[in-house]
Order: sequence, then structure tokens, then C-alpha cells
Amino acid sequence: MRQGKGFAHGKIILIGEHSVVYGKPAIAVPFPSTKITALVSEANTEITIDCLFYRGLLKKMPELLASLHKAIDLTLELLNKEMPLSIKIESSIPAERGMGSSAAVSVATIRAIFDYYETPLSYKQLLDIVAESEKIAHGNPSGLDALMTSSTTPYFFIKNEVCEPITLNMEAVLIVADTGQTGKTKQAVADVASQMRSPETQKFIQVLGEYSQEAKNYLENNQPDKLGDVMTQAHTLLQKLNVSNESLDHLVSVSLANGALGAKLTGGGRGGCMIALAKNITDAKHISKQLKAQGAKQTWLYEMSELNEQP
Ligand code: MEV
Repeated sequence: MRQGKGFAHGKIILIGEHSVVYGKPAIAVPFPSTKITALVSEANTEITIDCLFYRGLLKKMPELLASLHKAIDLTLELLNKEMPLSIKIESSIPAERGMGSSAAVSVATIRAIFDYYETPLSYKQLLDIVAESEKIAHGNPSGLDALMTSSTTPYFFIKNEVCEPITLNMEAVLIVADTGQTGKTKQAVADVASQMRSPETQKFIQVLGEYSQEAKNYLENNQPDKLGDVMTQAHTLLQKLNVSNESLDHLVSVSLANGALGAKLTGGGRGGCMIALAKNITDAKHISKQLKAQGAKQTWLYEMSELNEQP
């Protein structure tokens, strides 16, 4: 039986979330431990979906998966196809944790449908469809999640302007910790938008952008102490933008109290994940243990160099 396959993975924003929506730079890395596979095959009468959250007809899919629905509709429209399909999605990306799961599920599914129809998919076509579907998931997406869940290298990114792969030249260890709470990216993005008339908010956004620019320099020149400092300062500004929450703040404090060089939330915030930078693996293991003791549901550790090129 003919089968189409598509892949995507999670992403971690090192710095620049939220300000990236307003044209400021951000730096993100693919998140190798979390993957999505979509498989497409022929179905009998209608399009069906089989994923963790829903099993049934596409047309009856719940609102929670509206962005995926949009991605499928746009893909079939572009391909000019109306045939019944069975779409099976397997994901190890925790949903709504700031790891780009909504973009990743669209990326994998679009790729699988194109593969099923043996039609080449350009990168622009892929990003354009995900941009539309992400409007449902995030309201006003920067495009960073679409890029990062579909590419294999770290990027320095400015919405609609710069999309530059970067090489992390840094001896340090990144810890990612999941609060276990679902994040609220759409609401957080909308809340920041509602504050944007305030000069103070505009200043925070401006400074967050400057931190990303500085972070690029530190990442490329092995300056982990300085990177840690701007990460923590970025977290303070994200708190002021009201996109953090108690659990994220707590895990940031625990990291810093246990020797992290810096720590911040990652992604949309209001739940989801945080990241911390450790000098070496011994420190990282210690921090990770303390994070788990203080409520983190799961942690992942990476040498920064490991994040450069994903398989
Ligand atoms: C979400 O992963 C990152 C945000 O900056 C939104 C976006 O870039 O679309 C909060």
C-alpha cells in the first residue's frame, strides 16, 4: 500500500521569544529529543485522523486541533486533491509546553501528504502553509516555530528579514525543564499585544532584542557566563511582560541557586518549559536533580555543541 511519511521535531528558543513577534531577533535550536512522525495512506471514504488527542473523521476534529485542520485543508487545496486519506500522527513532543508542538505537527503532516502524492514540497510552500495554520494556534506567529521545527540547525531569526543559520561555539550544558503545566502561548502573545501601546512595554521589547543580538556574539565566541547573564535578564523582562508564571519563576530561581550561569522561560510562557545554562555536565546534573526535586516533571541535558546539527 502506498504510504507518505513526514517528520518534524520540537524547538527550544534560547532567547527572543515574544519580542520576535515585533521584528526583534531571536535565537533558537532544534530540540533533538522530541520528534513527530506523520504517516499518510489511502482510506475508504473520508479523511481520518489518528493522534494522541483524537481519533476519527477530520471534519469532526475538535477545536483544539483547528490549526492542524487548517494545515491539511491548505495542503490538499494546493495539491488540488480531494481523496480520502488516513493520517496517523505519533509525537514525543509534549503538547503546549513551548516546544513548538503545534507547528511541528503541521510540518510533519504537510510533508507526509506531499510525500504520499509524490510531489516535491518547497521550503517556501511548507513555511507558508504553517504560517497560516499557526495563526490559529498563536494568533500572530513570528514564523520562528515553523522554521525551527522543520530545520536541523540553530538559527538567528528576524521575522520576514533574517534567517541565518548559526554555529554554537560554546562549552556549556543546556538544561531544559518542563513545569508539567500547559503553556498558554496564544493568550500570552495576545496579552503582550494589548500592552504594546505602553512606552515601557516597547522598551522591554527593544531591550529583549538587544539581548538576542548580544547572545549571538556570546554563543559564537564561547562566553557562557555572559550568555547566562543575558538569559536571566531576559527572564526578568519576560516577567515584566507578564508571560511567566509562578512555576517558571520558581524553577528559574532553583537553577540560579544551584549554580546555573543563567536561566529563563522558553517559548510562549505561562507554563511550559524553562531553560538553564550550566558550566559543565557535573553542574548540569546537580541542577537537573534539584529542578526535579522542586517540581520539574522532566529535564533534558545537552552539551551546547550537540545542538548544532541534528541527524
Ligand atoms: C512561541 O514559541 C514563541 C513566541 O515568540 C510566538 C512566536 O514567535 O510566534 C511567543
